[in-house]
Amino acid sequence: MSEIKTVGLLGGGVIGAAWAARCALNGRDVVICDLDPEAERKIGEVMANARRAYSRLTLAPLREPGSVRVVRSIEEAAEGADFIQESLPEEEAMKIALLARADRVARPEVIIGSSTSGLLPSRLQSGMSHPERFVVGHPFNPVYLMPLVEICGGAQTSAATKERAAAFYRSLGMQPLHVRKEIDGFIADRLMEALWREALWLIHDDVATAAEIVNTRRPLRQCGGRSAQSQTKTRRQKLSLVHHILPKRLTAAVHAASQRQTRSSRFCWTLTREIKYENDF
Ligand SMILES: NC(=O)c1ccc[n+]([C@@H]2O[C@H](COP(=O)([O-])OP(=O)(O)OC[C@H]3O[C@@H](n4cnc5c(N)ncnc54)[C@H](O)[C@@H]3O)[C@@H](O)[C@H]2O)c1
Repeated sequence: MSEIKTVGLLGGGVIGAAWAARCALNGRDVVICDLDPEAERKIGEVMANARRAYSRLTLAPLREPGSVRVVRSIEEAAEGADFIQESLPEEEAMKIALLARADRVARPEVIIGSSTSGLLPSRLQSGMSHPERFVVGHPFNPVYLMPLVEICGGAQTSAATKERAAAFYRSLGMQPLHVRKEIDGFIADRLMEALWREALWLIHDDVATAAEIVNTRRPLRQCGGRSAQSQTKTRRQKLSLVHHILPKRLTAAVHAASQRQTRSSRFCWTLTREIKYENDF
């Protein structure tokens, strides 16, 4: 989508900074809003990680990156943008209020996407004057490497918004997956949660250790590779989701949960000891 030259990003934490990297390394100029006084440094570090990762993926020269400007107000990030992506903390009231502020200053045709991992789009668009241009574009960490982005509209989202958003994400090298119905947690995180829950029970019941569960990914991948020739494209895409994204997401979720201590501490400590956090690009 050549008309999208400048992307306005709301929030520059883990996900917002990585969106900045994906957009800038795909030639878009970025204006990113974050109130953290350390935002420039943190975003700069993510940009450096992304550049290093890209240079290890290909021997071809990287394209000229777009600029990245950090600002302190939502309005400043939104008013000149051709596409807006919100990655603020996962708090519904805050997102509704700040999305409404962005909506007031953005041109009406500009799409406003949200990175929310599970909040319902119909609620997030409820304070907007132009709710038809709002859509969830749920990415995966690290956004500059993971291609999957789940697209989910709310009750007032137009079909054109979903199509245009998908085209934009595709232009950044991503693979949009349309979520047909609005649902808490969308698709991949719900699958990941089921896998995570099952892994915890298997450890709890002494069926397998955490390391053994993580190791199941290797034979699964080989099996997927061997059978791939006889699979349809859709089936292969599903296999790819299960083999490449879910195991990685599982280890990331295990790590995150063990850091937050939100799960049983016995499980978490076992997992923390035995699982290396693989998200080390
Ligand atoms: N972390 C993940 O793996 C992941 C994956 C997919 C989607 N998401 C979603 O992305 C969103 C962001 O998650 P995150 O992990 O990047 O969170 P984060 O806490 O790392 O980032 C949020 C950022 O918003 C900034 N912020 C807070 N209030 C602000 C305000 N009023 N104005 C401007 N900036 C403000 C904070 O300073 C922080 O840098 C959430 O909706 C989350 O569900 C997260």
